[in-house]
Amino acid sequence: MTCVESRDAITVVAAANVPTPAYVYDLDAIERAADELERAFDGAPHGVFYAVKANSAGSIVRALASRGFGADVVTGAELLLASRCGIGADAIVYSGVAKSDEELDFAVSAGPRGIRAIQIESVEEIARVDARARASNRVARVAIRVNPGIELEELDTHAHVATGHDEAKFGVAKEDLADALAAIEASEHVALVGISSHVGSQFFVTTPYVAAARAACAIAREVRAKTPLEFVDTGGGFGVDYSGREHAKPADFVRAALAVMKEERVADLALHVEPGRALVARMGILVARVIQRKASRSGKRWLMIDAGMNDLIRPALYQAKHRVVASDVTPMPGAPARVVPQRVVGPICESADDFGEHSLPERGFDHVAILDAGAYGFTMASRYNGRAIASEVFLRTENGEKRVVSVVPRAPIEAWADERAKA
Ligand code: LLP
Repeated sequence: MTCVESRDAITVVAAANVPTPAYVYDLDAIERAADELERAFDGAPHGVFYAVKANSAGSIVRALASRGFGADVVTGAELLLASRCGIGADAIVYSGVAKSDEELDFAVSAGPRGIRAIQIESVEEIARVDARARASNRVARVAIRVNPGIELEELDTHAHVATGHDEAKFGVAKEDLADALAAIEASEHVALVGISSHVGSQFFVTTPYVAAARAACAIAREVRAKTPLEFVDTGGGFGVDYSGREHAKPADFVRAALAVMKEERVADLALHVEPGRALVARMGILVARVIQRKASRSGKRWLMIDAGMNDLIRPALYQAKHRVVASDVTPMPGAPARVVPQRVVGPICESADDFGEHSLPERGFDHVAILDAGAYGFTMASRYNGRAIASEVFLRTENGEKRVVSVVPRAPIEAWADERAKA
């Protein structure tokens, strides 16, 4: 899969004087990934709903919308963002265990018929959706997000990003499915249109995804005997290996899910998928400036950079190890700088503000690029320690050259102080 080159990213940030830390994204690479995924459907009825939570930058959402992708949203704010980026209500699905009445109102009243599907995550939610739809005199289209109850060990992903197991707060458990169906049947303002499932994130092989897809398809086959359905949604979760190793591609997951639909005799329904990470992770880089080097007589070395866990929380939260590279190494007179292991750390007052140990030249560079930062980087940023939210740079390639399409510079540091002083 293509990724934005760290050398290009660092050069662009330096040349355009963009304040660091800066996320740099390659919009063409994102579109290429979308096209590759789209081809995997090979004419089968389908819908791709980009999980906006992975990266909600308008330029990215619009780029994916231009490829015909809809949006998978989890808040009213994401729903509004998708609409503002030109995604029609009919191409939005909305998951979430605790949607507020106000958020349900957005979903029910969007477009001429409400959104494509509110994905129901509990039996209790159905009466709430019914009430909101009744209030606006509409019929809300819903899908039941089933929790296939796959063992956590079988899911083989980090516990924080596994959702399709018995203990998770997500989805309607198999044993509650009959209650959910009865509640929908009894609700005049709710229409069941699909069965969905999302079992977690970061799958490198298709097996757990296929197991969940099979469970969803089997349920869809039973349900449609009574109620006509439009789709089966097998969720997102297509993995990205942060050490750069090869693994199953988004297209492989789609082909596997299509095969399961055939086997389960529901291939006439549309297949919905909700990828986030796989469309954007490798296409974004976090560029940081080196603030200082620290070496101890004990032999320990640190490289202190101006990006911290507030900018990219994945290492602190999930023990993720993103590759860190120095691409602007100036050749030094005499012997080339030795490559030595060093801990790359940020400026935040937390031990977890640590991007791990990386082999980098001892000296001779001013910037580093943290790779594969396009997903769940900027969107999970915080203002802890009064830190400004990172800059964003969007690139396209023209005549073989990277061109900056737009820049959102980070706020000056005074902004936070002024704002908080007023609180
Ligand atoms: N659909 C639903 C209902 C989801 O909850 C998610 C992600 C997705 C789709 C997209 O999954 P993806 O294709 O990106 O794996 N912050 C974590 C990831 C959390 C994912 C939450 N749900 C991380 O940085 O690894």
